[in-house]
Amino acid sequence: MTELAFPGGMGPLTGRLRVPGDKSISHRAVLLAARAEGRSELRRLSSGLDVARTIGAIAACGARVEGSAGEEGTITVIGGRSMLREPAAVIDVGNSGTAIRLLTGWSATFPWLTVLQGDASIAERPMGRVVEPLRAMGARIDGRDDGRLPPLIVRGGGLVGIDYRLPVASAQVKAAVLLAGLGSDGDTTVREDVPTRAHTEELLAACGADIEVGTGWVTVRRSELSPLFLEIPADPSQAAFWVVAACLVPGSDLVLEDTYVGQARAGFLDVLRRMGADISFEQVDESRQTADIRVRSGPLHSTTVGGREVPGLIDEIPVLAVAAARAAGVTTFADAAELRVKESDRVSSVVSALRAIGVTAEPRPDGLVVHGNGGPPFAGGKVDARGDHRVAMAMAIAGLDAAGPTVVAGWESVATSYPGFEEDLHRCVS
Ligand code: S3P
Repeated sequence: MTELAFPGGMGPLTGRLRVPGDKSISHRAVLLAARAEGRSELRRLSSGLDVARTIGAIAACGARVEGSAGEEGTITVIGGRSMLREPAAVIDVGNSGTAIRLLTGWSATFPWLTVLQGDASIAERPMGRVVEPLRAMGARIDGRDDGRLPPLIVRGGGLVGIDYRLPVASAQVKAAVLLAGLGSDGDTTVREDVPTRAHTEELLAACGADIEVGTGWVTVRRSELSPLFLEIPADPSQAAFWVVAACLVPGSDLVLEDTYVGQARAGFLDVLRRMGADISFEQVDESRQTADIRVRSGPLHSTTVGGREVPGLIDEIPVLAVAAARAAGVTTFADAAELRVKESDRVSSVVSALRAIGVTAEPRPDGLVVHGNGGPPFAGGKVDARGDHRVAMAMAIAGLDAAGPTVVAGWESVATSYPGFEEDLHRCVS
């Protein structure tokens, strides 16, 4: 396990930063490019290990992949039915829940066998939520605990569309069913009571799929896809770390460039604004759903986070909890039981990490309560990220201007989504 020490006492965050390409968009773009007939070009794809796993998966299924991901990179994918074939070996998704859930739906359309496995964290993450609807479409799927846990064994082909209301607000489940719908007879409709991130439907439309989108529903039909030529916008979930850092470190004035702010991705900004943060948009691009986000430091006060806003900020709760710990008053995060089944049990890992740096925080079955200190930097201390990239990075932000060093154990997890985190830190901290 790698430990990284943040010395504390760092100065303000200033200038401009473009964080890596969005991870959720990157996974989907890779999977759709592999299905599309011909040559797709994906620029600024996420360079994290998670997306590398999805790239590895499509390559194992016969798609030709060239180039490199990352800020200056372009990945070329040559895909289509004539290229794709049964993978000869087990596909390993590493730590990526998005990869395993989306690949389950994606592979279910092909008349062959696909076996999907991942690391120790993936082995405990719930898969019944994708397996159930895909079985209803006709896919034969097995796995531990009757398909509720990985590894998953998928025998695809012969699918029929379904009309499915999501029992949990999950964009991964929506994506898995819609990807399966691309190779199914009849209509496949997914309905959601609470809006989740809309990348699957947005990219399906960009590839020319037969798709209709209404309020709270999406219908897709069997489609041949055309190649994708896409510049991936910057990832709001990664921008969130720097947004919170700039709120907290006095004298900061930072711009996060070209950040995706579309459906169910910018909820953390609303929460921070409610807490009194000075955040504005510059250079809004309506067609790409991006903006430059400008943040200036200032005092924060507590709020309550819960209800319908939660799916739109679930990944940002670890770093929002750090903001709450510096705010005046007590902040509650409720209706967020999904935190329990992320890369770690994030209720437990965030509460423990906050306590380790001197914050008072309490777990709840569906979230956590954070007692803010009203402003001063944290003391510092040693925290365990429990193999969870977002907990590791949230605690790094807590350590930036701390009075003493903050040591984050389990730092290697950061490579799953943001290998350039430390470089970006040095770019914007004076
Ligand atoms: C994601 C959806 C969310 C999110 C995850 C990425 C996606 O998960 O937490 O990091 O790309 O669709 P759920 O679908 O489980 O809510």
